[in-house]
Amino acid sequence: MNSYPTKVLIGQENSSLSDAFKSLFSENGLDVQLTTNGNQVLDIIRSENPPDLLLVDYSLRNPTALEICRMVKSDPELGYLPVILILPPEMRSDEVLAVEAGFDDILIHPVSPHALLARVQSLLRIKILMDGMDDAESVLYALTRTMEAKDQFTMGHADRVAHYAVDLGKSMGLSEEDLAILRQGGMLHDIGKIAIPDVILSKPGVYTPDEFNVMKQHPVFGCQICQKLKSVRGAIPLIRNHHEKLDGTGYPDGLKAVSIPLLVRIINVTDIYDALRSRRSYKEPFSMEKSLEILWSEVEKGWWDGHVLKEWEKLVISFKVAG
Ligand SMILES: [Fe+2]
Repeated sequence: MNSYPTKVLIGQENSSLSDAFKSLFSENGLDVQLTTNGNQVLDIIRSENPPDLLLVDYSLRNPTALEICRMVKSDPELGYLPVILILPPEMRSDEVLAVEAGFDDILIHPVSPHALLARVQSLLRIKILMDGMDDAESVLYALTRTMEAKDQFTMGHADRVAHYAVDLGKSMGLSEEDLAILRQGGMLHDIGKIAIPDVILSKPGVYTPDEFNVMKQHPVFGCQICQKLKSVRGAIPLIRNHHEKLDGTGYPDGLKAVSIPLLVRIINVTDIYDALRSRRSYKEPFSMEKSLEILWSEVEKGWWDGHVLKEWEKLVISFKVAG
């Protein structure tokens, strides 16, 4: 197995079991850390030196093993952290609850140490692959920020759109999976601008028709850059279609209402809102009220989804998000 990742955190109230595993794991090159408290588990996995795998016993309390797993699996910041549960035979009826909590594996006590070692090594191999995908995603995010840095007026745009889109998705009750796609789509929607010549990208003022035709290629370029990367595949429609309009006058595909998914409509609204609220070479930032007014006039023209804008307006006004 690869020389990394190797850090295993074991959380168990009674340390007798973990002591037994510790020597076997250590003999096989794993770096084992023990804790007997649920809060410490949370502190360690959120620290600057988190484990690569978490092994928890059902006995753990404050919070419980199930609560910890739910927190891990609903926190995108933790990435792919595999979590294994060891369940006592008398609690077997809770296995369904454990599956619902999202454990990557559930083993019934007593567990053969060698069987457990095999499961740990297998999940760590998957972790290596997932970390590799995360690295590739981070490179794309870095590319986006590099591209934005060429133009003082667009700096931070992708981060803001990602943040706004996730806030809006949450307020609309979307799933964690959809929120993750919104985060990626917000970050990467304009990545194709990296293939647009600087002379056009940084041009002050309004584009000529020819320049605009070149600029209109950026969603296609973005799609080409990202489509080979499996971990961002869900965000491809958001990258390719973030300039589509419900009446079919957008680009690059001229999609109409029914063909434009909800997640794309969310990026539409948050992308335009941020552009309106930001300074450009040809305009000062508009106020929150003026930006919403312009967006509503564009809903009237048949460009954006009025339901999505209504939700965004509520969020902006009620909570001062992006206000
Ligand atoms: Fe764009």
